[in-house]
Amino acid sequence: MKVKNICCIGAGYVGGPTMSVIAQKCPEVKVTVVDINEERIAQWNSDDLDDLPIYEPGLAEVVGEARNKNLFFSTDVDGAIKEADMIFISVNTPTKTYGIGKGMAADLKYIELCARQIARVADTDKIVVEKSTLPVRTAAALKSILHHTGNGVNFHILSNPEFLAEGTAVQDLLDGDRVLIGGDQKTEESKAAMQALVDIYAHWMKPEQILTTNVWSSELSKLTANAFLAQRVSSINAMSELCEVTDADVSEVARAVGSDSRIGPKFLKASVGFGGSCFQKDILNLVYIAKSYGLHEVADYWEQVIIMNDHQKRRFARNIVQTLFNTVSGKKIAFLGWAFKKDTNDTRESAAIYVANDLLEEKAEISVFDPKVKPHQMHSDLEYLNGGDQYNETLNAETDPYEACKDAHAIAILTEWDEFVDYDWKKIHANMKKPAFLFDGRNILNRDKMEKLGFIYRGIGK
Ligand code: NAD
Ligand code: UGA
Repeated sequence: MKVKNICCIGAGYVGGPTMSVIAQKCPEVKVTVVDINEERIAQWNSDDLDDLPIYEPGLAEVVGEARNKNLFFSTDVDGAIKEADMIFISVNTPTKTYGIGKGMAADLKYIELCARQIARVADTDKIVVEKSTLPVRTAAALKSILHHTGNGVNFHILSNPEFLAEGTAVQDLLDGDRVLIGGDQKTEESKAAMQALVDIYAHWMKPEQILTTNVWSSELSKLTANAFLAQRVSSINAMSELCEVTDADVSEVARAVGSDSRIGPKFLKASVGFGGSCFQKDILNLVYIAKSYGLHEVADYWEQVIIMNDHQKRRFARNIVQTLFNTVSGKKIAFLGWAFKKDTNDTRESAAIYVANDLLEEKAEISVFDPKVKPHQMHSDLEYLNGGDQYNETLNAETDPYEACKDAHAIAILTEWDEFVDYDWKKIHANMKKPAFLFDGRNILNRDKMEKLGFIYRGIGK
Protein backbone atom coordinates (compact mmCIF):
# COMPACT_ATOMS: atom_id res chain seq x y z
CA MET A 1 0.00 0.00 0.00
CA LYS A 2 1.52 3.33 -1.04
CA VAL A 3 0.39 6.44 0.77
CA LYS A 4 -0.25 9.41 -1.54
CA ASN A 5 -2.26 11.71 0.69
CA ILE A 6 -1.70 12.43 4.37
CA CYS A 7 -3.97 14.50 6.56
CA CYS A 8 -2.95 15.61 10.03
CA ILE A 9 -5.62 16.88 12.40
CA GLY A 10 -4.03 19.41 14.77
CA ALA A 11 -1.53 22.07 13.64
CA GLY A 12 0.18 22.49 17.01
CA TYR A 13 3.71 21.98 18.35
CA VAL A 14 3.66 18.38 17.16
CA GLY A 15 1.43 18.38 14.07
CA GLY A 16 3.08 21.43 12.45
CA PRO A 17 6.76 20.45 12.68
CA THR A 18 6.19 16.69 12.21
CA MET A 19 4.18 17.10 9.05
CA SER A 20 6.55 19.74 7.67
CA VAL A 21 9.42 17.27 7.95
CA ILE A 22 7.38 14.42 6.44
CA ALA A 23 6.44 16.70 3.52
CA GLN A 24 10.03 17.79 3.02
CA LYS A 25 11.31 14.22 3.07
CA CYS A 26 8.48 12.67 1.02
CA PRO A 27 7.98 15.04 -1.91
CA GLU A 28 5.67 12.61 -3.70
CA VAL A 29 3.19 12.63 -0.79
CA LYS A 30 0.67 15.45 -0.38
CA VAL A 31 0.48 16.48 3.28
CA THR A 32 -2.39 18.63 4.55
CA VAL A 33 -2.37 19.87 8.14
CA VAL A 34 -5.80 20.96 9.35
CA ASP A 35 -7.00 22.72 12.47
CA ILE A 36 -10.18 24.31 13.75
CA ASN A 37 -8.13 27.27 14.97
CA GLU A 38 -8.32 29.69 12.04
CA GLU A 39 -5.74 32.07 13.45
CA ARG A 40 -3.20 29.27 13.83
CA ILE A 41 -3.72 28.13 10.25
CA ALA A 42 -3.41 31.73 9.00
CA GLN A 43 -0.08 31.99 10.86
CA TRP A 44 1.17 28.74 9.30
CA ASN A 45 0.28 30.25 5.91
CA SER A 46 1.89 33.59 6.66
CA ASP A 47 4.16 34.99 3.93
CA ASP A 48 6.60 36.09 6.60
CA LEU A 49 8.18 32.89 7.93
CA ASP A 50 9.03 34.74 11.16
CA ASP A 51 5.29 34.76 11.88
CA LEU A 52 4.81 30.98 12.09
CA PRO A 53 2.85 30.15 15.25
CA ILE A 54 5.72 28.10 16.65
CA TYR A 55 9.33 29.08 17.08
CA GLU A 56 11.73 26.17 16.53
CA PRO A 57 15.27 26.45 15.21
CA GLY A 58 15.30 25.36 11.54
CA LEU A 59 11.51 25.09 11.21
CA ALA A 60 10.99 28.16 9.02
CA GLU A 61 13.42 26.75 6.45
CA VAL A 62 11.64 23.39 6.28
CA VAL A 63 8.21 25.04 5.98
CA GLY A 64 9.55 27.49 3.39
CA GLU A 65 10.82 24.61 1.27
CA ALA A 66 7.69 22.43 1.26
CA ARG A 67 4.75 24.79 1.77
CA ASN A 68 2.37 25.09 -1.18
CA LYS A 69 4.35 22.41 -3.02
CA ASN A 70 3.25 19.28 -1.15
CA LEU A 71 2.58 20.81 2.29
CA PHE A 72 -0.68 22.65 2.94
CA PHE A 73 -2.28 24.20 6.01
CA SER A 74 -6.05 24.46 5.98
CA THR A 75 -9.21 24.74 8.08
CA ASP A 76 -11.10 22.38 5.76
CA VAL A 77 -10.97 19.36 8.05
CA ASP A 78 -13.66 17.37 6.21
CA GLY A 79 -12.04 17.91 2.82
CA ALA A 80 -8.62 16.76 4.05
CA ILE A 81 -10.07 13.67 5.77
CA LYS A 82 -11.94 12.67 2.64
CA GLU A 83 -8.88 12.97 0.43
CA ALA A 84 -6.39 11.20 2.75
CA ASP A 85 -5.20 7.57 2.79
CA MET A 86 -3.53 8.14 6.14
CA ILE A 87 -4.81 10.43 8.92
CA PHE A 88 -2.65 11.48 11.85
CA ILE A 89 -4.50 12.63 14.96
CA SER A 90 -2.28 15.21 16.65
CA VAL A 91 -4.70 17.16 18.79
CA ASN A 92 -4.14 18.20 22.38
CA THR A 93 -4.80 15.76 25.24
CA PRO A 94 -4.69 18.00 28.33
CA THR A 95 -5.35 16.97 31.91
CA LYS A 96 -9.09 16.80 32.63
CA THR A 97 -10.41 19.82 34.53
CA TYR A 98 -13.84 18.37 35.34
CA GLY A 99 -15.70 15.21 36.34
CA ILE A 100 -14.20 11.76 36.86
CA GLY A 101 -10.41 11.88 36.88
CA LYS A 102 -10.39 15.69 37.25
CA GLY A 103 -6.81 16.95 37.65
CA MET A 104 -5.26 13.61 36.62
CA ALA A 105 -6.75 11.75 33.68
CA ALA A 106 -6.15 12.84 30.09
CA ASP A 107 -9.09 14.68 28.58
CA LEU A 108 -9.89 12.68 25.45
CA LYS A 109 -12.76 14.81 24.19
CA TYR A 110 -10.72 16.26 21.29
CA ILE A 111 -9.61 12.75 20.28
CA GLU A 112 -13.16 11.47 20.34
CA LEU A 113 -14.39 14.43 18.29
CA CYS A 114 -11.74 13.65 15.67
CA ALA A 115 -12.72 9.98 15.59
CA ARG A 116 -16.38 10.86 15.12
CA GLN A 117 -15.57 13.35 12.40
CA ILE A 118 -13.38 10.81 10.56
CA ALA A 119 -16.13 8.18 10.86
CA ARG A 120 -18.76 10.60 9.54
CA VAL A 121 -16.73 11.89 6.60
CA ALA A 122 -14.61 8.95 5.41
CA ASP A 123 -15.93 7.21 2.32
CA THR A 124 -12.77 5.22 1.51
CA ASP A 125 -10.51 3.03 3.68
CA LYS A 126 -8.17 4.96 5.99
CA ILE A 127 -5.14 4.31 8.14
CA VAL A 128 -5.66 6.29 11.34
CA VAL A 129 -2.49 7.11 13.28
CA GLU A 130 -2.48 8.14 16.93
CA LYS A 131 0.21 10.83 17.09
CA SER A 132 -1.09 12.48 20.26
CA THR A 133 0.08 11.04 23.58
CA LEU A 134 -2.72 8.80 24.80
CA PRO A 135 -3.56 6.51 27.71
CA VAL A 136 -2.80 2.87 27.04
CA ARG A 137 -5.76 1.15 25.33
CA THR A 138 -7.14 4.31 23.70
CA ALA A 139 -6.85 2.59 20.32
CA ALA A 140 -9.61 0.24 21.44
CA ALA A 141 -11.97 3.17 22.02
CA LEU A 142 -11.00 4.73 18.69
CA LYS A 143 -11.62 1.46 16.91
CA SER A 144 -15.03 1.10 18.49
CA ILE A 145 -16.12 4.62 17.47
CA LEU A 146 -14.77 4.29 13.93
CA HIS A 147 -16.30 0.88 13.30
CA HIS A 148 -19.66 1.54 14.86
CA THR A 149 -20.32 5.00 13.48
CA GLY A 150 -18.46 4.83 10.16
CA ASN A 151 -19.81 4.39 6.63
CA GLY A 152 -18.77 0.76 6.36
CA VAL A 153 -15.22 1.55 5.20
CA ASN A 154 -12.15 -0.09 6.80
CA PHE A 155 -10.00 1.66 9.38
CA HIS A 156 -6.59 0.48 10.50
CA ILE A 157 -5.41 2.07 13.72
CA LEU A 158 -1.72 2.57 14.44
CA SER A 159 0.05 4.18 17.37
CA ASN A 160 2.98 6.42 16.47
CA PRO A 161 3.79 8.54 19.52
CA GLU A 162 6.06 11.52 19.05
CA PHE A 163 9.28 11.87 21.04
CA LEU A 164 10.45 15.28 19.84
CA ALA A 165 11.47 17.81 22.45
CA GLU A 166 10.66 21.47 21.95
CA GLY A 167 13.58 23.67 21.01
CA THR A 168 15.17 20.75 19.13
CA ALA A 169 12.04 19.56 17.29
CA VAL A 170 13.42 19.71 13.75
CA GLN A 171 16.70 18.04 14.69
CA ASP A 172 14.80 15.36 16.66
CA LEU A 173 12.46 14.72 13.73
CA LEU A 174 15.28 14.48 11.22
CA ASP A 175 17.52 12.26 13.31
CA GLY A 176 15.76 11.10 16.46
CA ASP A 177 16.87 8.13 18.51
CA ARG A 178 13.92 6.14 17.19
CA VAL A 179 10.48 6.20 15.63
CA LEU A 180 7.95 3.93 17.32
CA ILE A 181 5.07 2.36 15.45
CA GLY A 182 2.54 0.15 17.20
CA GLY A 183 0.01 -1.89 15.28
CA ASP A 184 -1.92 -5.08 15.02
CA GLN A 185 0.03 -7.59 12.93
CA LYS A 186 -2.56 -10.36 12.79
CA THR A 187 -3.85 -9.92 9.25
CA GLU A 188 -2.16 -9.19 5.93
CA GLU A 189 -4.14 -5.94 5.73
CA SER A 190 -3.03 -4.72 9.15
CA LYS A 191 0.57 -5.66 8.37
CA ALA A 192 0.32 -3.63 5.15
CA ALA A 193 -1.03 -0.61 7.07
CA MET A 194 1.92 -0.76 9.43
CA GLN A 195 4.36 -1.15 6.54
CA ALA A 196 2.84 1.92 4.86
CA LEU A 197 3.80 4.06 7.85
CA VAL A 198 7.23 2.40 8.14
CA ASP A 199 7.77 3.31 4.46
CA ILE A 200 7.04 6.99 5.15
CA TYR A 201 9.73 7.19 7.85
CA ALA A 202 12.10 5.01 5.82
CA HIS A 203 12.47 7.98 3.46
CA TRP A 204 15.04 9.37 5.90
CA MET A 205 15.35 7.13 8.97
CA LYS A 206 17.57 4.04 9.02
CA PRO A 207 15.71 0.70 9.38
CA GLU A 208 17.21 0.12 12.83
CA GLN A 209 15.76 3.47 14.01
CA ILE A 210 12.19 2.34 13.25
CA LEU A 211 10.81 0.18 16.05
CA THR A 212 7.59 -1.74 15.67
CA THR A 213 5.53 -3.15 18.56
CA ASN A 214 1.96 -4.01 19.37
CA VAL A 215 -0.40 -1.04 19.86
CA TRP A 216 -0.56 -1.21 23.65
CA SER A 217 3.21 -1.33 24.10
CA SER A 218 3.55 1.67 21.83
CA GLU A 219 0.93 3.72 23.70
CA LEU A 220 2.43 2.82 27.07
CA SER A 221 6.04 3.39 25.96
CA LYS A 222 5.34 7.05 25.33
CA LEU A 223 4.02 7.64 28.86
CA THR A 224 6.88 5.57 30.25
CA ALA A 225 9.55 7.54 28.37
CA ASN A 226 8.24 10.86 29.67
CA ALA A 227 7.92 9.48 33.19
CA PHE A 228 11.54 8.23 33.16
CA LEU A 229 12.85 11.56 31.83
CA ALA A 230 10.92 13.62 34.36
CA GLN A 231 12.01 11.26 37.11
CA ARG A 232 15.66 12.01 36.36
CA VAL A 233 15.02 15.73 36.72
CA SER A 234 13.17 15.24 40.00
CA SER A 235 15.93 12.94 41.23
CA ILE A 236 18.70 15.48 40.63
CA ASN A 237 16.48 18.26 41.99
CA ALA A 238 15.96 16.27 45.19
CA MET A 239 19.74 16.03 45.47
CA SER A 240 20.07 19.77 44.82
CA GLU A 241 18.28 20.53 48.07
CA LEU A 242 20.56 18.15 49.93
CA CYS A 243 23.59 19.79 48.30
CA GLU A 244 22.51 23.19 49.53
CA VAL A 245 22.60 22.10 53.16
CA THR A 246 25.80 20.06 52.93
CA ASP A 247 28.02 22.29 50.75
CA ALA A 248 28.15 19.69 48.03
CA ASP A 249 27.78 21.08 44.50
CA VAL A 250 25.00 19.50 42.46
CA SER A 251 26.81 20.03 39.13
CA GLU A 252 29.79 18.11 40.46
CA VAL A 253 27.53 15.38 41.82
CA ALA A 254 25.72 15.16 38.46
CA ARG A 255 29.02 14.90 36.60
CA ALA A 256 30.30 12.19 38.91
CA VAL A 257 27.08 10.20 38.77
CA GLY A 258 26.51 10.71 35.03
CA SER A 259 30.01 9.40 34.22
CA ASP A 260 28.74 5.94 35.10
CA SER A 261 27.81 4.62 31.66
CA ARG A 262 24.85 2.77 33.18
CA ILE A 263 23.41 6.11 34.31
CA GLY A 264 24.65 8.44 31.55
CA PRO A 265 25.16 12.20 31.63
CA LYS A 266 21.97 13.51 29.99
CA PHE A 267 18.96 14.99 31.77
CA LEU A 268 20.80 15.55 35.04
CA LYS A 269 20.69 19.34 35.14
CA ALA A 270 19.26 20.57 38.40
CA SER A 271 16.76 23.36 37.80
CA VAL A 272 13.95 25.41 39.22
CA GLY A 273 11.72 22.52 38.10
CA PHE A 274 10.63 20.95 34.86
CA GLY A 275 7.85 22.53 32.85
CA GLY A 276 6.32 21.97 29.46
CA SER A 277 2.96 20.75 28.37
CA CYS A 278 3.68 17.06 28.75
CA PHE A 279 5.75 15.79 31.67
CA GLN A 280 3.24 16.67 34.36
CA LYS A 281 0.18 15.80 32.31
CA ASP A 282 1.59 12.45 31.20
CA ILE A 283 2.72 11.40 34.67
CA LEU A 284 -0.63 12.40 36.17
CA ASN A 285 -2.25 10.31 33.48
CA LEU A 286 0.04 7.38 34.29
CA VAL A 287 -0.82 7.73 37.97
CA TYR A 288 -4.52 7.78 37.11
CA ILE A 289 -4.24 4.68 34.93
CA ALA A 290 -2.33 2.79 37.64
CA LYS A 291 -4.95 3.77 40.23
CA SER A 292 -7.79 2.75 37.97
CA TYR A 293 -6.27 -0.75 37.81
CA GLY A 294 -5.92 -0.74 41.63
CA LEU A 295 -2.11 -0.46 41.43
CA HIS A 296 -1.71 2.04 44.26
CA GLU A 297 2.01 1.47 44.94
CA VAL A 298 2.77 2.06 41.26
CA ALA A 299 0.65 5.22 41.32
CA ASP A 300 2.31 6.57 44.48
CA TYR A 301 5.78 5.86 43.11
CA TRP A 302 5.24 8.03 40.02
CA GLU A 303 3.24 10.70 41.79
CA GLN A 304 6.31 11.50 43.86
CA VAL A 305 8.02 12.84 40.72
CA ILE A 306 5.35 15.57 40.51
CA ILE A 307 5.39 16.24 44.25
CA MET A 308 9.15 16.81 44.09
CA ASN A 309 8.80 19.13 41.11
CA ASP A 310 6.12 21.24 42.79
CA HIS A 311 8.32 21.46 45.86
CA GLN A 312 11.30 22.62 43.79
CA LYS A 313 9.34 25.50 42.22
CA ARG A 314 7.88 26.56 45.57
CA ARG A 315 11.17 26.44 47.42
CA PHE A 316 12.85 28.59 44.73
CA ALA A 317 10.27 31.34 45.35
CA ARG A 318 10.52 30.87 49.11
CA ASN A 319 14.29 31.12 48.95
CA ILE A 320 14.00 34.49 47.18
CA VAL A 321 11.68 35.84 49.87
CA GLN A 322 13.83 34.56 52.73
CA THR A 323 17.08 35.82 51.23
CA LEU A 324 15.61 39.27 50.60
CA PHE A 325 15.27 39.71 54.39
CA ASN A 326 11.92 37.91 54.55
CA THR A 327 10.00 40.45 52.55
CA VAL A 328 9.64 41.21 48.84
CA SER A 329 6.65 43.49 49.24
CA GLY A 330 7.06 46.47 46.89
CA LYS A 331 10.48 45.20 45.74
CA LYS A 332 11.24 44.88 42.06
CA ILE A 333 12.37 41.40 41.05
CA ALA A 334 13.52 40.86 37.48
CA PHE A 335 12.86 37.57 35.70
CA LEU A 336 15.11 36.59 32.83
CA GLY A 337 13.17 33.96 30.91
CA TRP A 338 9.55 32.87 30.89
CA ALA A 339 9.53 29.95 28.41
CA PHE A 340 9.71 26.48 29.97
CA LYS A 341 13.09 25.91 28.28
CA LYS A 342 15.34 27.73 25.84
CA ASP A 343 14.77 27.94 22.09
CA THR A 344 10.98 27.77 22.29
CA ASN A 345 8.19 30.31 22.76
CA ASP A 346 6.12 27.70 24.61
CA THR A 347 5.27 28.63 28.19
CA ARG A 348 2.93 25.82 29.15
CA GLU A 349 3.56 24.74 32.76
CA SER A 350 6.72 26.85 32.84
CA ALA A 351 8.24 27.08 36.32
CA ALA A 352 8.37 30.87 35.80
CA ILE A 353 4.57 31.09 36.05
CA TYR A 354 4.49 29.40 39.45
CA VAL A 355 7.43 31.32 40.85
CA ALA A 356 5.91 34.61 39.64
CA ASN A 357 2.58 33.75 41.15
CA ASP A 358 4.12 32.97 44.56
CA LEU A 359 6.10 36.21 44.52
CA LEU A 360 3.11 38.28 43.40
CA GLU A 361 1.22 36.89 46.37
CA GLU A 362 4.04 38.32 48.48
CA LYS A 363 3.36 41.66 46.73
CA ALA A 364 6.61 41.76 44.78
CA GLU A 365 6.81 43.81 41.59
CA ILE A 366 7.95 41.55 38.79
CA SER A 367 9.40 42.60 35.47
CA VAL A 368 10.07 39.92 32.90
CA PHE A 369 12.19 39.68 29.80
CA ASP A 370 12.07 36.68 27.49
CA PRO A 371 13.58 36.73 23.99
CA LYS A 372 10.64 34.88 22.37
CA VAL A 373 7.59 35.04 24.62
CA LYS A 374 5.08 37.79 23.89
CA PRO A 375 3.91 39.94 26.85
CA HIS A 376 0.22 39.01 26.47
CA GLN A 377 1.22 35.35 26.90
CA MET A 378 2.76 36.05 30.33
CA HIS A 379 -0.40 37.77 31.49
CA SER A 380 -2.68 35.05 30.19
CA ASP A 381 -0.50 32.34 31.81
CA LEU A 382 -1.03 33.95 35.21
CA GLU A 383 -4.71 34.42 34.60
CA TYR A 384 -5.02 30.77 33.60
CA LEU A 385 -3.22 29.66 36.77
CA ASN A 386 -5.68 31.70 38.81
CA GLY A 387 -8.72 30.18 37.16
CA GLY A 388 -9.27 33.04 34.74
CA ASP A 389 -9.33 35.72 37.46
CA GLN A 390 -7.51 38.98 37.02
CA TYR A 391 -4.17 38.64 38.79
CA ASN A 392 -2.18 41.27 40.60
CA GLU A 393 -1.26 44.00 38.12
CA THR A 394 2.39 44.33 39.16
CA LEU A 395 3.87 42.10 36.46
CA ASN A 396 5.51 44.08 33.66
CA ALA A 397 6.72 42.45 30.50
CA GLU A 398 9.79 44.26 29.18
CA THR A 399 11.26 44.12 25.69
CA ASP A 400 14.75 45.04 26.87
CA PRO A 401 16.61 42.90 29.44
CA TYR A 402 18.60 45.85 30.85
CA GLU A 403 15.37 47.76 31.43
CA ALA A 404 13.87 44.69 33.12
CA CYS A 405 16.81 44.52 35.55
CA LYS A 406 17.12 48.24 36.24
CA ASP A 407 16.50 49.15 39.90
CA ALA A 408 15.70 45.52 40.75
CA HIS A 409 16.59 44.12 44.17
CA ALA A 410 17.07 40.69 42.66
CA ILE A 411 17.28 38.89 39.33
CA ALA A 412 15.91 35.38 38.90
CA ILE A 413 16.92 33.30 35.91
CA LEU A 414 14.05 31.05 34.92
CA THR A 415 15.03 29.91 31.40
CA GLU A 416 18.50 28.93 30.18
CA TRP A 417 18.56 31.15 27.04
CA ASP A 418 22.16 31.27 25.74
CA GLU A 419 22.11 35.04 25.29
CA PHE A 420 21.75 35.62 29.04
CA VAL A 421 25.33 34.46 29.60
CA ASP A 422 26.68 37.13 27.26
CA TYR A 423 24.91 40.10 28.84
CA ASP A 424 26.93 42.98 30.26
CA TRP A 425 26.55 41.84 33.86
CA LYS A 426 28.75 44.64 35.15
CA LYS A 427 26.32 47.17 33.74
CA ILE A 428 23.33 45.21 35.05
CA HIS A 429 24.85 45.14 38.55
CA ALA A 430 25.61 48.86 38.46
CA ASN A 431 21.97 49.68 37.79
CA MET A 432 20.46 47.48 40.51
CA LYS A 433 19.52 48.21 44.11
CA LYS A 434 22.16 47.01 46.59
CA PRO A 435 22.75 44.43 47.80
CA ALA A 436 22.12 42.94 44.35
CA PHE A 437 20.91 39.33 44.46
CA LEU A 438 21.10 36.85 41.61
CA PHE A 439 19.04 33.63 41.78
CA ASP A 440 20.22 31.37 38.99
CA GLY A 441 17.41 28.85 38.57
CA ARG A 442 19.29 27.19 35.70
CA ASN A 443 22.91 27.34 36.90
CA ILE A 444 24.02 29.04 33.67
CA LEU A 445 26.19 31.80 35.11
CA ASN A 446 29.65 31.52 36.56
CA ARG A 447 29.37 31.96 40.29
CA ASP A 448 32.93 33.28 40.86
CA LYS A 449 32.56 35.83 38.06
CA MET A 450 29.21 37.06 39.37
CA GLU A 451 30.50 37.31 42.93
CA LYS A 452 33.51 39.29 41.71
CA LEU A 453 31.09 41.74 40.10
CA GLY A 454 29.42 42.18 43.48
CA PHE A 455 26.33 39.98 43.15
CA ILE A 456 25.13 37.83 45.98
CA TYR A 457 24.75 34.65 43.93
CA ARG A 458 22.47 31.70 44.66
CA GLY A 459 22.43 28.76 42.25
CA ILE A 460 20.34 25.61 42.47
CA GLY A 461 22.08 22.99 44.58
CA LYS A 462 25.17 25.13 45.11
P1 NAD B 1 -1.20 21.90 20.67
O1 NAD B 1 -2.21 22.36 21.65
O2 NAD B 1 -0.04 22.77 20.32
O3 NAD B 1 -1.94 21.58 19.29
C1 NAD B 1 -3.12 20.85 19.18
C2 NAD B 1 -3.97 21.45 18.06
O4 NAD B 1 -5.08 20.61 17.82
C3 NAD B 1 -4.53 22.83 18.39
O5 NAD B 1 -4.10 23.79 17.44
C4 NAD B 1 -6.06 22.63 18.34
O6 NAD B 1 -6.77 23.74 17.82
C5 NAD B 1 -6.17 21.44 17.43
N1 NAD B 1 -7.44 20.71 17.55
C6 NAD B 1 -8.03 20.25 18.69
N2 NAD B 1 -9.16 19.60 18.38
C7 NAD B 1 -9.29 19.63 17.03
C8 NAD B 1 -10.26 19.10 16.13
N3 NAD B 1 -11.32 18.41 16.56
N4 NAD B 1 -10.09 19.33 14.81
C9 NAD B 1 -9.02 20.04 14.35
N5 NAD B 1 -8.07 20.55 15.17
C10 NAD B 1 -8.20 20.33 16.48
O7 NAD B 1 -0.70 20.50 21.18
P2 NAD B 1 0.73 19.80 20.92
O8 NAD B 1 1.74 20.36 21.84
O9 NAD B 1 0.99 19.77 19.45
O10 NAD B 1 0.42 18.34 21.43
C11 NAD B 1 -0.40 17.44 20.70
C12 NAD B 1 -0.25 16.04 21.26
O11 NAD B 1 1.11 15.62 21.09
C13 NAD B 1 -0.52 15.92 22.76
O12 NAD B 1 -1.13 14.68 23.00
C14 NAD B 1 0.86 15.96 23.38
O13 NAD B 1 0.90 15.26 24.60
C15 NAD B 1 1.69 15.24 22.35
N6 NAD B 1 3.11 15.62 22.32
C16 NAD B 1 3.50 16.91 22.44
C17 NAD B 1 4.84 17.26 22.36
C18 NAD B 1 5.31 18.67 22.48
O14 NAD B 1 6.52 18.89 22.49
N7 NAD B 1 4.45 19.66 22.56
C19 NAD B 1 5.80 16.26 22.12
C20 NAD B 1 5.36 14.94 21.98
C21 NAD B 1 4.02 14.63 22.08
C1 UGA C 1 9.78 16.18 26.58
C2 UGA C 1 10.57 14.95 26.14
O1 UGA C 1 11.97 15.24 26.24
C3 UGA C 1 10.22 14.57 24.70
O2 UGA C 1 10.89 13.36 24.36
C4 UGA C 1 8.72 14.37 24.59
O3 UGA C 1 8.36 14.08 23.26
C5 UGA C 1 8.01 15.63 25.04
O4 UGA C 1 8.40 15.94 26.41
C6 UGA C 1 6.52 15.51 25.07
O5 UGA C 1 5.97 14.43 25.14
O6 UGA C 1 5.92 16.59 25.03
P1 UGA C 1 10.01 18.80 26.20
O7 UGA C 1 9.04 18.88 27.33
O8 UGA C 1 9.71 19.54 24.96
O9 UGA C 1 10.19 17.26 25.76
O10 UGA C 1 11.45 19.28 26.67
P2 UGA C 1 12.58 18.61 27.60
O11 UGA C 1 13.88 18.90 26.99
O12 UGA C 1 12.29 17.20 27.90
O13 UGA C 1 12.48 19.48 28.94
C7 UGA C 1 11.36 19.37 29.81
C8 UGA C 1 11.61 20.20 31.05
O14 UGA C 1 12.60 19.59 31.87
C9 UGA C 1 12.11 21.61 30.76
O15 UGA C 1 11.50 22.52 31.62
C10 UGA C 1 13.60 21.51 31.02
O16 UGA C 1 14.17 22.73 31.37
C11 UGA C 1 13.61 20.54 32.19
N1 UGA C 1 14.90 19.85 32.33
C12 UGA C 1 15.34 19.01 31.36
C13 UGA C 1 15.66 20.05 33.48
O17 UGA C 1 15.26 20.80 34.38
N2 UGA C 1 16.85 19.39 33.61
C14 UGA C 1 17.32 18.55 32.66
O18 UGA C 1 18.42 17.99 32.84
C15 UGA C 1 16.55 18.36 31.50
